[in-house]
Amino acid sequence: MKILVTGGAGFIGSAVVRLAVERGHEVVNLDALTYAGRLENVAAVADSPLYSFEHADIRDRAALARIFAAHDPDAVMHLAAESHVDRSIDGPGDFIDTNIIGTYNMLEAARAQWTATGRPPGFRFHHISTDEVYGSLGDTGLFTEETPYDPRSPYSASKASSDHLVRAWFHTYGLPVVLTNCSNNYGPYHFPEKLIPKVILNALHGKEIPVYGEGLNVRDWLFVEDHADALLLAVEKGRPGRSYNVGGHNERRNIDLVHAICDCLDEKRPRETGSYRDLIRFVTDRPGHDARYAIDPDRITDELGWKPSVTVEQGLEKTVQWYLDNPEWWEPLLEIEGVGTRVGTA
Ligand SMILES: NC(=O)c1ccc[n+]([C@@H]2O[C@H](COP(=O)([O-])OP(=O)(O)OC[C@H]3O[C@@H](n4cnc5c(N)ncnc54)[C@H](O)[C@@H]3O)[C@@H](O)[C@H]2O)c1
Repeated sequence: MKILVTGGAGFIGSAVVRLAVERGHEVVNLDALTYAGRLENVAAVADSPLYSFEHADIRDRAALARIFAAHDPDAVMHLAAESHVDRSIDGPGDFIDTNIIGTYNMLEAARAQWTATGRPPGFRFHHISTDEVYGSLGDTGLFTEETPYDPRSPYSASKASSDHLVRAWFHTYGLPVVLTNCSNNYGPYHFPEKLIPKVILNALHGKEIPVYGEGLNVRDWLFVEDHADALLLAVEKGRPGRSYNVGGHNERRNIDLVHAICDCLDEKRPRETGSYRDLIRFVTDRPGHDARYAIDPDRITDELGWKPSVTVEQGLEKTVQWYLDNPEWWEPLLEIEGVGTRVGTA
């Protein structure tokens, strides 16, 4: 299959690109290389004859028309997005432009190409979204594909808007779309502004480890390579017009996750005195911080046969080891604006 992957230089997109090439797919990686996009993330496949790169912005409709005509992909996996909730609080405009208008541009470019090539029924427009569109859960219950949308942050509202556009293009124009909504990812190449790499890197530098509020917010964690596997299954076998929730039943309170990372580091690279847990500091909560996310993944398990390969403990161990082994990847990123400082306090 020839797949046009947008955002393929980002955290999840690069895992998709690496896995797709490994499985023999032809991949065109379309990415604007914002602060979050790094070509180092796809270095492992950059020399493959199956891989090519298009430096382009999904806000640029003319560029998209050229790229679709030049490559005529069998499928699109649309991951390009502004993805950091805290940044969306300080500057929602980029999230509206890229996540909503950019998705609209991608849908129109895909529809034009699909129409020009005789509307092949096997074509797929796979939109990669988040469980954050469903809002916040109480102490019990799970998000299913039928849970009503109730986004609370500029980020999740922009993703919810893009999901609605994608469904509208299916119902109105018949474009064969598939959607996936996934829980929080973690793993190698995770940009250091996000919780798990931030905890690992602050700990390694002997800096305070900030935990929002009382650390009681619950997230459902999925190893990024398991997500990439689910995404390839969805683009290959997903039914047009259908949504699939992706998650691994790995709910953890933030404070418990941070403790687990500290304990893993205590074992792998002990401090001279004390535990990395001593560096934990509770800081002002994020405005509108959703209390709990938890995914019911039964549909993707039952219909497509997907299940995750690692538990959160195994995935965290791999992730911590990867950051210990790859300082040349993360060291330069710590200098980028907003990475080492708190943003999104509104
Ligand atoms: N990280 C998570 O836990 C998570 C969970 C569920 C869903 N998602 C979704 O998965 C997708 C990828 O998330 P991620 O964490 O890998 O994000 P990321 O921020 O690591 O990567 C985003 C990529 O998109 C590119 N990009 C941004 N704006 C662009 C534009 N205007 N034109 C072209 N390229 C652009 C960036 O350069 C970068 O390579 C997003 O759509 C996100 O909403 C993420």
